[in-house]
Amino acid sequence: MKAIVCREFGTPDILQYQEIEIPSPKKDEILISVKACSVNFPDTLIIQGKYQFRPEFPFSPGSDVAGVIEKVGEDVRHFKIGAEVVGFIPFGGFAEKAIVKAKDCFPKPKGMSMVNASAFLLAYGTSYHALKDRANLQKEETILILGASGGVGLTALELSKLMGAKVIAAASTADKLELCKQFGADEVINYTEESIKDKVKELTDGKGVDVIYDPVGGHFSELALRAIAWKGRHLVIGFANGEIPKIPVNLTLLKGASIVGVFWGAFAQKEPVKSLENIQQLLTWFAKGALKPHIDKTYALKDAPKALEEMMNRKTKGKIVIDMEL
Ligand SMILES: NC(=O)c1ccc[n+]([C@@H]2O[C@H](COP(=O)([O-])OP(=O)(O)OC[C@H]3O[C@@H](n4cnc5c(N)ncnc54)[C@H](OP(=O)(O)O)[C@@H]3O)[C@@H](O)[C@H]2O)c1
Repeated sequence: MKAIVCREFGTPDILQYQEIEIPSPKKDEILISVKACSVNFPDTLIIQGKYQFRPEFPFSPGSDVAGVIEKVGEDVRHFKIGAEVVGFIPFGGFAEKAIVKAKDCFPKPKGMSMVNASAFLLAYGTSYHALKDRANLQKEETILILGASGGVGLTALELSKLMGAKVIAAASTADKLELCKQFGADEVINYTEESIKDKVKELTDGKGVDVIYDPVGGHFSELALRAIAWKGRHLVIGFANGEIPKIPVNLTLLKGASIVGVFWGAFAQKEPVKSLENIQQLLTWFAKGALKPHIDKTYALKDAPKALEEMMNRKTKGKIVIDMEL
């Protein structure tokens, strides 16, 4: 089968498009013929050896897959060959076939395209877990979303609106902010031109925001935390900016505020029942047309390095997807 292969850590140009052996599923695993695999920021980190774990070489990046079951391990009872599924894997998705643990595989909803299905689990799963389980976001509360036009950011925007919150979307360019408005942002901040703190104070009559959704990190985190309201919750989602912020903790004391970590992958492993309930809720919303994944661009498998590079260069909006049909 064809795959994008990483044989040493580095930037996307070191990845190779190669013929490799088809893997075999173990007892509790499924082999799927991958139809689409979305690109997530952690894919850009994993190939550089900068993610939470380092796979053995050679490996393929890619974790959010949608496809058709080709083989099942001997302990797998509830999935049949030929079924259309979505799955989450630590790596291995930028390939024509991939192995997924049966417990991390879900039937693909009818009416959801393979491209949309591959762009769904990680982004919406992370944002819903963050907003519902970690921030306890309430109707009428105000949320500030950093990197709001990005993969997880845009899903946080959609879900916050669905949960009845007022959204202030922050991003770096006018066209990214325009997309946020199309997705229902009540207010926008261009954080390359405006002060987050001053603009938030102006937009909230000096009160600040109840929740901050922060997938960006770096100096943006402290600037945002300085605009938090009394008893606010600052959600630590990730560090797309490349720098892990060092926050003066007196800022939390002054506002009775919390800094709350979010790790969807660990949540799904440690609390599988709650995670499944969340996924079912998200799929129900999708089926009702309440959630609309924004696919900015699709790429052929051989062009996956280009897709990763565009993400690293801040050139993408919403989700980008490797589409095996191209
Ligand atoms: N905690 C979890 O469970 C979990 C799950 C999924 C993802 N994540 C993390 O969430 C973050 C975002 O992931 P994603 O897939 O949504 O990525 P993405 O689509 O690339 O979005 C990231 C956003 O960050 C902003 N940004 C600011 N500085 C940047 C820089 N130097 N390089 C790249 N982007 C920069 C960009 O918006 P502007 O240009 O508007 O600033 C971009 O839209 C990553 O750190 C990822 O690891 C965490």
